[in-house]
Amino acid sequence: MSETQFSNSVTLRDNRNGATYDFPILDGTMGPSVIDISNFYKDTGMFTLDRGYTSTAMCKSSITYIDGEKGELMHRGYDIAWLAKNKRYLDVVYLLLNKKLPSKEEYNAFLYELKTRSFINEKILKLFDAFPDRAHPMAVLQACIATLSAYYSKDMSFDDPGEYMEMAKRLVAKMPTLAAFYYRHSKGYPIIYPDLARGFTENFLYMMRSFPHSHVDLKPIEVKALDSVLMLHADHEQNASTTTVRTVGSTHAHPYACISAGIGALWGHAHGGANESVIRQLEMIGTPENVDKYIAKAKDKSDPFRLMGFGHRVYKNYDPRAKVLKGLRNQLIEEIGIDTNLIRVANRLEEIVLNDEYFVSRNLYPNVDFNSGLILKALGIPTEMFAVIFVMGRSPGWMAQWIELKEQESIKIVRPRQLYIGPERINE
Ligand code: ACO
Repeated sequence: MSETQFSNSVTLRDNRNGATYDFPILDGTMGPSVIDISNFYKDTGMFTLDRGYTSTAMCKSSITYIDGEKGELMHRGYDIAWLAKNKRYLDVVYLLLNKKLPSKEEYNAFLYELKTRSFINEKILKLFDAFPDRAHPMAVLQACIATLSAYYSKDMSFDDPGEYMEMAKRLVAKMPTLAAFYYRHSKGYPIIYPDLARGFTENFLYMMRSFPHSHVDLKPIEVKALDSVLMLHADHEQNASTTTVRTVGSTHAHPYACISAGIGALWGHAHGGANESVIRQLEMIGTPENVDKYIAKAKDKSDPFRLMGFGHRVYKNYDPRAKVLKGLRNQLIEEIGIDTNLIRVANRLEEIVLNDEYFVSRNLYPNVDFNSGLILKALGIPTEMFAVIFVMGRSPGWMAQWIELKEQESIKIVRPRQLYIGPERINE
């Protein structure tokens, strides 16, 4: 065995010829260590195969920490349950982007900066007309954000570190406006412009629900519930959409092109599209009496049916975000009411999953989408807008991750390899 050149390392032995290779072990501040295999191919002439990157660290990051076994989530060291209890969504946005929580003055200045950036160039509205009736809002939002890159690309200023924060603030500020404007357009309702006298989250609900002749009265619990949903989605380290943002970012693409790609990744029902699928599935199940039939389908290996809103790649415990939202969901149901059959089906499903051997042995718990879907439904948000709300919440996280990528000493383009299993050379 060769003598290791690293203070901590693992040794790989190739049993075909007895050759050994050492790879350094890197320790983070918390969580599992990683084996640095950057030189793996150079040293061994082989690649590693890791479908779905279940054992691969994509990058070094100081933004978000998850302990999936314990069910813990922290942003820049602050526990999500503490943030949800004591802070607002914009505090977390500020924290992700500025690496610290804001003081009262900083919060107010930040809110003002976002408000003044919340208007959009109205030429973008013409894009809405290019879409067929009943286009999914995620398709429209993805196109709108890609279009924003054309409006903010003068002199490639997005590649200037002095512009990163401006890029982030602009995106976070305009996302709710674009989402609400498209919703109004799709319904044929008059567009309601941002009201600078309102708070960030309140403003979105106001743009969604008001009419020129009657401005909506929002209950504090409604604003609080949506604010919490946004906060709990703000970042989640290297999930599929964030990895997409970083992958596109590694090619030095425009940040809004990266975010647009992230929106595409998030749309799928295995990811951010799940909150929409949760409600559609609960509606399909219909009554608590039907739950057992669908539980049986979920457990049947010959049936591709899955229970939406349950299970998570990282959490093998109760998703801490789902825990916070469950309390809020109950509060909301009490205060404003919700379709009771839907809630009864949800309660019955949750009860079975938390006790049934199939789900317990696979560590399948309710995830954030299970409760966020129910909360958004209670808030009267149209189901097809649920993933859009997820995107709104996640935008600052994506931008923080993009900035972190850009601030690295050198960016390595993401370029995985493959195990080729096609035909060998055919010589005709
Ligand atoms: N219903 C029924 N069985 C499930 C479910 C489910 N929702 N989720 C996982 N399983 C089973 C699998 O069939 C598998 O069983 P097996 O070991 O007998 O083959 C086992 O649990 C492990 O499942 P994997 O798919 O290997 O787990 P993975 O970590 O790859 O997938 C995922 C995680 C995609 C979230 C999965 O649990 C799922 O499809 N859930 C439903 C969709 C959903 O709610 N997505 C939102 C995720 S949260 C988010 O993106 C914010």
